[in-house]
Amino acid sequence: MKSTFRAAGLLALGLLLSPALPAQKNTRPTPPATSTPVDEAKMQRFIDDLMRQMTLEEKIGQLNLITVGFDVTGPVVSKDVDANIRKGLVGGVFNTYTPVAARKLQDMALKESRLHIPLIFGYDVIHGHRTIFPIPLGLSATWDMAAVERSARVAAEESAADGLHWVFSPMVDIARDPRWGRVMEGGGEDPYLGSQIARAMVRGYQGPNNDLTKNNTVMACLKHFALYGAAEAGRDYNTTDMSLPRMYNEYLPPYKAAIEAGVGSVMSSFNDINGTPATGNKWLLTDLLRGQWGFKGFVATDYTAINEMVAHGVGNDAQVSAMALNAGADQDMVGEIFLKNLAQNLKDGTVKQETIDLACRRVLEGKYKLGLFQDPYRGVSDKRAKATLMKPEFLDDARAIARKSFVLLKNENQTLPLKKTGTIALVGPLASRQRDLIGSWSGAGDWKQAVSVEQGMRNVAGSGVKILTAPGVNITDDALLTERLNAYGGDIVPDKRPAEEMIQEAVRAAQQADVVVAVVGESQGMTGEAASRADLNLPGQQLELLKALKKTGKPLVVVLMNGRPLTLNWENQHADAILETWFAGTQGGNAIADVLFGAYNPSGKLTATFPQSVGQVPLYYNHKTTGRPFDPQDRLAKYKSRYLDVSNEPLFPFGFGLSYTTFSYSKPTLSTPTLSASGTLDVSVTVKNTGNYDGEEVAQLYLRDVVGSVTRPVRELKSFQKVLLKKGESRMLTFRLTPEDLKFYNQNLQWVAEPGDFQVFVGSNSRDTQEASFRFVEGSATN
Ligand code: BGC
Repeated sequence: MKSTFRAAGLLALGLLLSPALPAQKNTRPTPPATSTPVDEAKMQRFIDDLMRQMTLEEKIGQLNLITVGFDVTGPVVSKDVDANIRKGLVGGVFNTYTPVAARKLQDMALKESRLHIPLIFGYDVIHGHRTIFPIPLGLSATWDMAAVERSARVAAEESAADGLHWVFSPMVDIARDPRWGRVMEGGGEDPYLGSQIARAMVRGYQGPNNDLTKNNTVMACLKHFALYGAAEAGRDYNTTDMSLPRMYNEYLPPYKAAIEAGVGSVMSSFNDINGTPATGNKWLLTDLLRGQWGFKGFVATDYTAINEMVAHGVGNDAQVSAMALNAGADQDMVGEIFLKNLAQNLKDGTVKQETIDLACRRVLEGKYKLGLFQDPYRGVSDKRAKATLMKPEFLDDARAIARKSFVLLKNENQTLPLKKTGTIALVGPLASRQRDLIGSWSGAGDWKQAVSVEQGMRNVAGSGVKILTAPGVNITDDALLTERLNAYGGDIVPDKRPAEEMIQEAVRAAQQADVVVAVVGESQGMTGEAASRADLNLPGQQLELLKALKKTGKPLVVVLMNGRPLTLNWENQHADAILETWFAGTQGGNAIADVLFGAYNPSGKLTATFPQSVGQVPLYYNHKTTGRPFDPQDRLAKYKSRYLDVSNEPLFPFGFGLSYTTFSYSKPTLSTPTLSASGTLDVSVTVKNTGNYDGEEVAQLYLRDVVGSVTRPVRELKSFQKVLLKKGESRMLTFRLTPEDLKFYNQNLQWVAEPGDFQVFVGSNSRDTQEASFRFVEGSATN
């Protein structure tokens, strides 16, 4: 469990408080955030009454969120924690679940604390609770919002039955740098798609009406607010420094979408933003979040994020405590810095009583909305848990959703799907692994219940196929890295044989086979928190293994398991087929086998650009042009925006993914050549399934605003439709655009659509599109 691995790590003293960002006006109309349907007046009366009875210490106690580990017999409560719960000095607990644990701790708070205020139980339920779904990057590659929502719904059912009230998800940080290990935790690089995912996840966790009193819902926690995915150099926890138009247009939309969907809580991030740590950033946590976006829930910090502001260099313990509270952080995760400092802060006059009261009120409101004051146990019982956790229906969902998340990157000569006859050499360090399949951030998942690729292939292939296995190489030959991964539950058992001997064993298997399936990639611990990599190649000797397999002349199918875009140049040139499967979850092996043998035709599309070289990152499709764009026809051009040693192109663009069938697109036609401020414009294309299988296609629509008052991206995703087309079937798809789709934040942070020419692109990925154009007329349509 994560808490076990935490280092205290609270470092040096800093001195000065750095200035916050200036308050900015955002003229984008924000609909009032949908809040949970509680009787507001009744709730306030209840909380007024409760707070009248609370001492200062008890109020500060509600702002204290602690981690409590547990063993098989239940929560391991240290003397301190135990005493603090009894004294009313703990508001919430995380890293503990199961009906037994939840009841034991809740009993302590209810029966032994003075005011009997229930605890809130949170946990990192990120891509499933017990039934593990694909990692979020994989889920996003489904481009299927019903599937994304369903994964969150199952996670809510399971976690609620397991004693939890609150999940630290969705993570919606836009990430464009695959070196950052937490790329696996989010929905990729695009703000439009990221916003759809944010909404779907909140709905899945909190239910369609945000009625958290239903005991099969959990409160979602939007994270990491904000811009955590823009960490410099892809190094975790690193600085972010960004212009406001970029922030508003490219990084903030998914957070805003989750707020609009009624997310109950927000987690402030570790990073600093333009000179002020997010956790102490009043502009961020109050002016933007509450003032401009109308957020009504409570803000919890990330793990010891207030204490870490000392290392950021913005003050000592007392100063950062006051700074965080005054900025709008309500609950202090693990650091106990509020507990230790706020009373003194109040005496010193650095915080006001009303600010403490407000934070306490927000936490109590969260508990009230969850119905905890009426039903503090929310119906948890062993019986309910048993009937809910990993029930067959959920396992079926996990398998069906995992299949949709895989991206077919190459398939020469229809190497895939495989036939259910003959001999398959199933090789590679990940071929028989269970631990890696469930990926990072799968805290309550039991990897021993995960289906490996080998097992899945045996399940699906039937008796007509002979499967020969060999690991080929170790996942890494870096002994220190192995040790570090194992220190955090990696469960890697290196094969002691020399790599050459292991490769020869795999080659011998390949020689006896009709086709080679090589399962390669990253170990799950190579992505996730604090798992940045400076190299994006396959780790260790895995490429050597692939080269040796290729020399056998047998068809080579590469199955990738990884949590970030990788550089796969040799693989793309020489493998016959490549299937990207991310870390696919509990049912991963079955789902992979379904796709390899053709029971499901792959339909996933990349949501993060795959570069050719790590030197190209950040590389993303919705970039701007320069004044000196490079024209690849002009081979000798020097004074152009280019590299000397690699082209500007990605290896696989955003939105890319093949199918066992093929699709053709007609040129888009427009219902009108001009769109007016009050009008609509329909873009129609006919998509035809021109191959030999039924299949799903994600038709994508991008726009380019040709001339803007500020420079505009070369294209931006504005709509998509995922459709199933039978072999030979054609369908006309229509996308309706309104001026709202043309809007962006200008230099003054006004949300505007500017008159002028627009190009519209439709196609099967962000590169392979056909275009049409229109004019937007009639005034600026500024709101
Ligand atoms: C992570 C969060 C997580 C929290 C609690 C932090 O280190 O950044 O994403 O929710 O720990 O485990």
